[in-house]
Amino acid sequence: METSSFSRVLIFLFILNLFLCSQFIHSAITYDSKGIIINGQRKILISGSIHYPRSTPHMWEDLIRKAKVGGLDVIDTYVFWNAHEHSPGKYNFEGRYDLVRFIKTVQRVGLYVNLRIGPYVCAEWNFGGFPVWLKYVPGISFRTDNEPFKKAMQGFTKKIVQMMKSERLFASQGGPIILSQIENEYGSEVKEFGAAGEAYINWAAKMAVGLNTGVPWLMCKEDDAPGPVINTCNGFYCDSFKPNKPNKPMMWTEAWSGWFTEFGGPVHDRPVEDLAFAVARFVQSGGSYFNYYMYHGGTNFARTAGGPFITTSYDYDAPIDEYGLIRQPKYGHLKQLHRAIKLCERALVSSNPTVTSLGTYQQAHVFSGKGTCAAFLYNYHFTSSKRVTFRNKQYDLPAWSISILPDCKNVVFNTAKVGVQTSHMQMLPSSSRLLSWQTYDEDLSSLEDSPTMTVNGLLEQVNVTRDSSDYLWYMTSVVVSQSDLHGQAPELLVQSSGHAVHVFLNGQLSGSAYGSREDRRFTFKGPVKLRTGVNRVALLSVAVGLPNVGPRFETWSTGVLGPVILQGLRSGKKDLTWQKWSYQIGLKGEKMNLAHPTGVSSTDWVEASLAAQSTQPLTWYKAYFDAPGGVEPVALDMQSMGKGEIWINGHNIGRYWTNYAKGNCGPCSYHGTYRPAKCQHGCGSPTQRWYHVPRTWLKPRQNLMVIFEELGGDASKISLVKRSVARVCSDVYEHHPTADNWSLDGESYNKTVDHVKAHLQCGVGQSISSIQFASFGTPSGTCGSFLKGTCHAEDSHTILEKMCIRKQRCSVSISNTNFGGDPCPNILKRLSIEAICS
Ligand code: GAL
Repeated sequence: METSSFSRVLIFLFILNLFLCSQFIHSAITYDSKGIIINGQRKILISGSIHYPRSTPHMWEDLIRKAKVGGLDVIDTYVFWNAHEHSPGKYNFEGRYDLVRFIKTVQRVGLYVNLRIGPYVCAEWNFGGFPVWLKYVPGISFRTDNEPFKKAMQGFTKKIVQMMKSERLFASQGGPIILSQIENEYGSEVKEFGAAGEAYINWAAKMAVGLNTGVPWLMCKEDDAPGPVINTCNGFYCDSFKPNKPNKPMMWTEAWSGWFTEFGGPVHDRPVEDLAFAVARFVQSGGSYFNYYMYHGGTNFARTAGGPFITTSYDYDAPIDEYGLIRQPKYGHLKQLHRAIKLCERALVSSNPTVTSLGTYQQAHVFSGKGTCAAFLYNYHFTSSKRVTFRNKQYDLPAWSISILPDCKNVVFNTAKVGVQTSHMQMLPSSSRLLSWQTYDEDLSSLEDSPTMTVNGLLEQVNVTRDSSDYLWYMTSVVVSQSDLHGQAPELLVQSSGHAVHVFLNGQLSGSAYGSREDRRFTFKGPVKLRTGVNRVALLSVAVGLPNVGPRFETWSTGVLGPVILQGLRSGKKDLTWQKWSYQIGLKGEKMNLAHPTGVSSTDWVEASLAAQSTQPLTWYKAYFDAPGGVEPVALDMQSMGKGEIWINGHNIGRYWTNYAKGNCGPCSYHGTYRPAKCQHGCGSPTQRWYHVPRTWLKPRQNLMVIFEELGGDASKISLVKRSVARVCSDVYEHHPTADNWSLDGESYNKTVDHVKAHLQCGVGQSISSIQFASFGTPSGTCGSFLKGTCHAEDSHTILEKMCIRKQRCSVSISNTNFGGDPCPNILKRLSIEAICS
């Protein structure tokens, strides 16, 4: 070949290559009934919610990498309007709100994104994500066919889409965003809004589709999702969900991995056996996309928690815990499930399931086509296990479980058989001390000197504060004659619409009262100490997160709306409701910017004798500390305190409240239909005792901690703790099915290793310091309470010590040869281990 024609060929190949590459980079995202199609390939997509403002940018990459290792393909996040547009037209995309950086991090790690723009998001986020100013746009009504609302919603949606487009973040442009969502669970609202609701949802779909992102739009829990918009399911189970058109795939945008927590309530857990069962049930019914809500819940920093009464922790019992650490066995068991599902992917996307009965409560769901075959063997009996026969082979199915057979023969995973380790976490006291305590007293004597306003009657709280602070003072006075005090003990009655109130009489705290998430309205009723003459009544009304869900929640009231009545006077009762009230927005300390390093003026603080301060309400505390050594996540132990807010180096850590959790924390079993009240812990203890202090907000020395305490607490007992793994357990049968041992080579499945292994792993920087228990044989019990059985390999302990001590992780084969021979032939054995990490 001549040189010139040779170079022409080279140039041609180069251009062809460029063309092919750009085809690959600019992904076409479509769908059909079987799934989302990326560049012509149908996919089973596994997704997890990680909300960017609920961790710090410093944590993002690690969280996303852990998600990838956990077997996820997609990261799902809402977009939080009120975080980005705090006041109209003033945008913030910095720090935790750097949406573009978050999406680019996901892209760098190599995962896709589902961008749930909303802009209504619910999410236990303040006001459901709406900026509070939106409520004050003249003529507005949220989430319905209302011009001012639609204009604002379109404006923000467009802004976000434009931002993504200009950064080339949609898959159609070569970016990671393969899906986006408009609105959120509108299905339940439509009843409320009727025809206007229908008009609105049609408008929303059209508006979104008109933005030409090149990727499909979703609407969750909206059966009427119009046109090409895919309606999706949210819930604890979604296997009976059907999309509204035959050409739409079956998608589950919120597989609730646990549940959120409310101050005053217990902490909810969702057993991983049940979550895995729910997911497998969805997939065996034809589901092709599922998203864990949440995969990492994180923290409601500052005043971002919705409500009312959502805790600062948004841990959610997610596979990655609030602090960014892996939660075991949840993370590991789901990882194995994902591997098992991916081994079935080809069969799943190329056929619909054929369902056959294997018993009264047992079924086989078989996907076969294009030379593949995958089966899901399903036992939905609540309590009984069952031996079933499938294609002439016998299989044992535990109660409420599904076995996955990627080749229709071999079980590689059963949802109820957990083979991965269990990790017990601890909050270890750190050696960092809180030093140079000072206090500042919210002195009430000058409260009325310069009120924000004075009017007749009681005002709704958010109308006054516009949510610039949680706090609003309602102040009035009442004149009492000497003879009035000769009646019964006088009582004050304060009716509030939410969420908490502290009642002060003549500068002294008389008592407090709170509502609840279910019933925001409440009444304070308590004895008050009056004096002859003028008595000053000051009510500190406290918001604990604005509502994020419910019909027309933007119209719900907060604050003391009355009546306010003084009763038990000799002359009868005095209704104070309609008299003159003065208002003061926020606290003095807030106005003085006490929480910020620049606002900390030394003259305002006094050296503290903490003992004397210990029960003083409305007190600001300040102290310095050095960052605890090591790399473990850090938290503040606030058990000795009451209720308030915390700042570290000017960063708002969030609201704290150590009120005790009411509820029933009985034993929990994974089988049977899950609901949050079924499995919970922490009853009788503070709902939230520990508060996450991200390491990136700390400097090595002299960190400033500021606390505002409403009720009175013992600040001297606040301490810094480090979160780490205390001990790990493994408890695995010798014939445990595991997807890890299988690989798919072309058309056939190969078992790569024959024996099952027990894996143990401590946290970063830790190692196994001792083996607390080890038995290969027939041990019983669970992690923390294992007991030897009648069959026990004598060397179990020594073998484990030899293989694991001083190692961060170790793996032990569960085989007779490894344990010096079979300790009891013909008996099914297991290996149970408990190891200490330090
Ligand atoms: C869903 C909602 C989510 C979240 C969840 C509960 O209904 O779409 O945003 O609020 O409930 O955690």
